[in-house]
Amino acid sequence: MTTDDRSLVITGIGELVTNDPAHGGPLGVLHDAAVVVADRHVAWVGPASQAPSADDRLDADGRCVLPGFVDSHSHAVFAGDRSAEFTARMAGTPYTGGGIATTVAATRAASDGELRRRARCLVEEMLGQGTTTVEIKSGYGQDVATEVRTLRIARELTEETTFLGAHTVPAEYAHDRRAYLDLVTGPMLAACAPHARWVDVFCEPAAPTAFDADEAREVLQAGRRAGLLVRVHGNQLGHGPGVRLAVEHGAASVDHCTYLSDDDVAALAASGTVATLLPAVEFSTRSPYPDARRLLDAGVTVALATDCNPGTCGSSSMPLVVALAVRELRMTPEQALWSATAGGAAALRRADVGSLRVGARADLVVLDAPTFVHLAYRPGVPLVHTVLREGRPTGG
Ligand code: NIG
Ligand code: FE
Repeated sequence: MTTDDRSLVITGIGELVTNDPAHGGPLGVLHDAAVVVADRHVAWVGPASQAPSADDRLDADGRCVLPGFVDSHSHAVFAGDRSAEFTARMAGTPYTGGGIATTVAATRAASDGELRRRARCLVEEMLGQGTTTVEIKSGYGQDVATEVRTLRIARELTEETTFLGAHTVPAEYAHDRRAYLDLVTGPMLAACAPHARWVDVFCEPAAPTAFDADEAREVLQAGRRAGLLVRVHGNQLGHGPGVRLAVEHGAASVDHCTYLSDDDVAALAASGTVATLLPAVEFSTRSPYPDARRLLDAGVTVALATDCNPGTCGSSSMPLVVALAVRELRMTPEQALWSATAGGAAALRRADVGSLRVGARADLVVLDAPTFVHLAYRPGVPLVHTVLREGRPTGG
């Protein structure tokens, strides 16, 4: 077991994905490579034949090693179960966001202990599938106390926490949206901001309980005044203002991007905003997939994430997302892996994760496969052999 003061050399790496263009191409792939980890960070990367010695040694035995997945979009703190909604959807009922109220009721009724236990289980499940950085949103509380509880629990699990009080308007405010906006941008934000890095809003005029452009703008402006960085749920269910609003507010990412106009794509391409695609949502809601090729061809930075949540994506699996991105979004395996690692890091404005260059956090995945292409080539197969987070082996 590696400890902070013991160094580790990983040898026998058949294929190493560094995401460091210094090693060629966007993925910076090296063969017959080694990595040295010291003080929780990558200390050396290069040919196995030149690897320096270290206190401990891990033999990858010809396997592929890649940076840990960065899942930049999840709603992992919630209670309840919506499998019946899923069954109805598979029988033809479309997704409208209406089921969010079911999760809000269950989450409000749940104890801290239950919420914590369930969220921990999900984050462990993610880690076991290679996710070493995860973003977690609130948004199933929709009252001050439950939003704060959600974010406190999320904060125990990750530094990437997002205040999404403006997920939907809860039933008790259905006839007074103004009052809910005042709550979200006032006392709820004040109570939640100390526990969050990001503010998010579900900007989707097509969904009756979500927010239109003016409402979403108010939420983002208030969040920024409170010192939070911006990300947006936009253009999931139909064309709309989400993408342009995100760009206008310098958002790190706008997520979903399923329905985009030419102007949306041009605005993204000219901005520093990442388009985060969530193909496991379209898979689970049987909706049209976003057009990843159009975004990539326009030069937009694309990330991939799960959106793990009880309504639109029951999966916590980044390997599944990579497989869907290749099969359904027509991304190349290289593009999909980059978007699931370095792309996610860009969507979280993180320079220390998503790559295995010297100085990066030693978050890495050993795949039981000779090449990362197997993530898409062998979908549904548990290929993750070992996960190291900050240089320490996890699990088992
Ligand atoms: O990202 N679109 C809004 N929020 C979630 C789904 C929430 C739910 O249905 O519970 C999403 O897809
Ligand atoms: Fe989401």
